[in-house]
Amino acid sequence: MKLKDRVAIVTGSGQGIGKAIALAFSREGARVVVSDITDKIYEVQKEIKTESLAIKCDVSKMEDAKKMADEVVSKFGRIDILVNNAGIYPFKPFLEMSESDWDKVINVNLKGTFNCTKAVVPYMVKQRYGKIINITSIAGTVVGFPQLVHYCASKAGQTGFTRALALELAPFNINVNAIAPGPIVTPGTQVLGNEAYENFRRAIPLQRWGEPEDIANLAVFLASDESKNITGQVIVSDGGYVTQ
Ligand SMILES: NC(=O)c1ccc[n+]([C@@H]2O[C@H](COP(=O)([O-])OP(=O)(O)OC[C@H]3O[C@@H](n4cnc5c(N)ncnc54)[C@H](O)[C@@H]3O)[C@@H](O)[C@H]2O)c1
Repeated sequence: MKLKDRVAIVTGSGQGIGKAIALAFSREGARVVVSDITDKIYEVQKEIKTESLAIKCDVSKMEDAKKMADEVVSKFGRIDILVNNAGIYPFKPFLEMSESDWDKVINVNLKGTFNCTKAVVPYMVKQRYGKIINITSIAGTVVGFPQLVHYCASKAGQTGFTRALALELAPFNINVNAIAPGPIVTPGTQVLGNEAYENFRRAIPLQRWGEPEDIANLAVFLASDESKNITGQVIVSDGGYVTQ
């Protein structure tokens, strides 16, 4: 019960890594807000054992983010944990990438992180307590990936955002950290197909794709007071992929 009675918002938690984080937080006793643009939030909410809320929220829209934060505070009275997990990774060669392809990825991954954080931080400052966890990626943060120029730019942006915000919010007892996953099996990556899956697997020193629970376990640690001395960090979980 590392998160007993904490109030946590997890964006993009209708499936994949976000869903695993929402369920892990609930197992640790947190009250959980399942948030996504899709109706899958209602299915995930059924699996949550603690008090919960399901809120439709498009993170790229500031008004959605603000509405979500206000609704959470009016139900639970506070917000202790925000996980900026919602993200998209539509593969596209740079030569074919349009301005709207670029804007879409930046608006969800980077501006979405800004929007939700901006909506939630005033409450955390008032409480003098908060944990913000940004799900970035090894792509953009540590290495480049072809056909993901927009995505890598957004993830590098989230990483810089994490480091700078950690310094500004430290006086308010708010920790801001990031997790940079390597390849993780999720509905989003399963569309890559068997060949890509096997190629990645062979390239990973631990010879396995990460599971959403690997990221969820790390998120529990960063959301708990066991990590209270850690802020402004980006923690890689990738089976050793970028260590080679
Ligand atoms: N899976 C991986 O290998 C991997 C690796 C590194 C980083 N990541 C990051 O982890 C996060 C989750 O990835 P995943 O693989 O679980 O993805 P996924 O595609 O399986 O799930 C992403 C969820 O985000 C939601 N979403 C998309 N746009 C949204 C928006 N505008 N507002 C709110 N929700 C929105 C989707 O509906 C979906 O439920 C992303 O930020 C991704 O960049 C994933």
